[in-house]
Amino acid sequence: MDLEEINTIAVLGAGNMGHGITEVAAMAGYDVNMRDIKAEFVEDGYDQIEWSLNKLAEKDRLSREDADAALERVTPLVDMEAAVADADVVIEAVPEQMEIKEEVYRELEACAGDDALFVTNTSSLSITDLAEFTDRPERFCGMHFFNPPVRMQLVEVISGAETAEETLDVVEELAEEFGKTPVRVHRDSPGFIVNRILVPLMNEASWLVSDGEATIAEVDSTTKYELGLPMGTFELGDQVGNDISYHVLEYMHDVLGDAYEPAPLLEEKVENEELGKKTGAGFYDYE
Ligand code: CAA
Repeated sequence: MDLEEINTIAVLGAGNMGHGITEVAAMAGYDVNMRDIKAEFVEDGYDQIEWSLNKLAEKDRLSREDADAALERVTPLVDMEAAVADADVVIEAVPEQMEIKEEVYRELEACAGDDALFVTNTSSLSITDLAEFTDRPERFCGMHFFNPPVRMQLVEVISGAETAEETLDVVEELAEEFGKTPVRVHRDSPGFIVNRILVPLMNEASWLVSDGEATIAEVDSTTKYELGLPMGTFELGDQVGNDISYHVLEYMHDVLGDAYEPAPLLEEKVENEELGKKTGAGFYDYE
């Protein structure tokens, strides 16, 4: 498939990443079907897109007309077949659990067009393993965005064992059409490049606090003001979602070993459903 043949994109999942990717694709001029399993999930995702486009317009990052036009290109849907039947590219951004992803890919494969490309926004799971849930491993790869997608420049384009070179080329071109900078990741290893570095950093910060060696405020001031990161480590954890970091770590722990054991502080946040900004509380309060 050539880039010019891509007109309609389906995004599966209307959570933080799903609605953010939908927004990016709609801003780039694509018609986007954003699908989730419940009407309230897609409605919430749609409201978040509207909020974000308004914010961008308010801050003169986007004209009011372009913001309105982008929103008009988004169709929120619950029905899988309606969402994917005409899609040229399907971007999957459902929860980071293999069983959920398997179920979604089986259903997707049954109703998507034969030529459609499937890409996954997984943060860490094996692209090769996910591709096995479909009949098109050569037209399947990772397309990993960062949170918030509308503000973050990088997209990792990750090859699975059977991904065709043409698939990687067109997905890279698509990332560029979205106004992003793609980086190709040749090795399908847990966390790819960014999360392999970033998530252990966030985990190490949690270990420091769990072990009573530093406070959250101390860690965040050093990462922000000394290491020069745009956000403190815990602030970033709340932005990403503590459940997301935790799932990435659990997977790295399983595949790569003990160095990646999640810290008790992070575990506690997930158990208490203090997942960060999206739940109103995480390492900080947002109410
Ligand atoms: N849409 C529109 N506006 C948004 C927004 C969104 N999605 N998210 C935040 N904003 C708004 C804020 O509400 C704020 O507006 P107000 O000033 O009115 O409150 C404004 O943007 C802040 O933007 P600024 O440019 O003034 O602030 P900044 O320079 O701090 O930039 C940032 C914000 C780009 C998010 C920056 O803090 C940053 O780069 N943070 C790091 C984020 C990061 O590293 N993300 C990757 C995480 S890893 C990941 O996602 C991978 C994974 O798989 C786990």
